[in-house]
Amino acid sequence: MDKRIMIEGAMDLETKFLLDALKQTQEHLLGTWRFVEGWYKEVPLVVAVTAVGAANAAAATALGIEKFKPAAVISQGTAGGHDPALGAYDIVLGKQSFDASSYRTAQEDRADWQHMELMGAYAYEPDSGEFVPQAVYYPGDEVLLAAAHKAAAGYSRGRVMDGCIASCNTWNRQKERLQYLHDTFGSSCEEMEVHSAAHVCRQYEIPFLGIRMISNSEFREEDFQPETAQVCQEFVLSVAQEIYRSYDCAGQLGN
Ligand code: 5AD
Repeated sequence: MDKRIMIEGAMDLETKFLLDALKQTQEHLLGTWRFVEGWYKEVPLVVAVTAVGAANAAAATALGIEKFKPAAVISQGTAGGHDPALGAYDIVLGKQSFDASSYRTAQEDRADWQHMELMGAYAYEPDSGEFVPQAVYYPGDEVLLAAAHKAAAGYSRGRVMDGCIASCNTWNRQKERLQYLHDTFGSSCEEMEVHSAAHVCRQYEIPFLGIRMISNSEFREEDFQPETAQVCQEFVLSVAQEIYRSYDCAGQLGN
């Protein structure tokens, strides 16, 4: 079964709708992470319940890839707005992502938090057999992005935009800092899992896309809205169908 898509979510409220939508399910526990195989309509899926944060997302992504050999991976769920133009129920498709915790500061006596230069991560390169520095920004997969664009035509609760997802284990609520990250690094939103999942997929050379729904925005004084998590899952299922169709059309992946 080569066409399976792995859809990841961190919190129960970010995976419940997906799990309820699956038929012919099979449960797996790998380490401490839960995976459920099943079918959504004609689409074979694996839902990974990763738990919150970068380390959990990376571990679950690696284990899920090893076990299920998915054709594509999606990290989906809620996010906080960096772009002041975005509000709850708007969707950011991860054309890019970066690790917002990977930075070095200038050498200074005083702490000026704005003096930060993004660094990125190290990844294994088969040619050299070494772990070498990677680009700061990772691109989302073009085929998955195109499928998400098709699905966007059927989404009416908010905007859908290509954007840049800032990932790390922080929750920023200071407007000045949020605006700075948006202006300086181009981030549309922040969350805690996308970039580490992207990193693992990059190492395995598996197509990856982050899909995040804005659930809170300081610029709009919107507190976390849990209902966005379900609406995001509904949208992601429609993206999975489009991905599956695009595979069928391209004849890329036969059973
Ligand atoms: N900042 C950081 N993480 C956020 N999440 C939702 N909104 C934000 C935000 N403003 C997501 C993370 C994590 C959980 C705490 O919620 O991805 O899984």
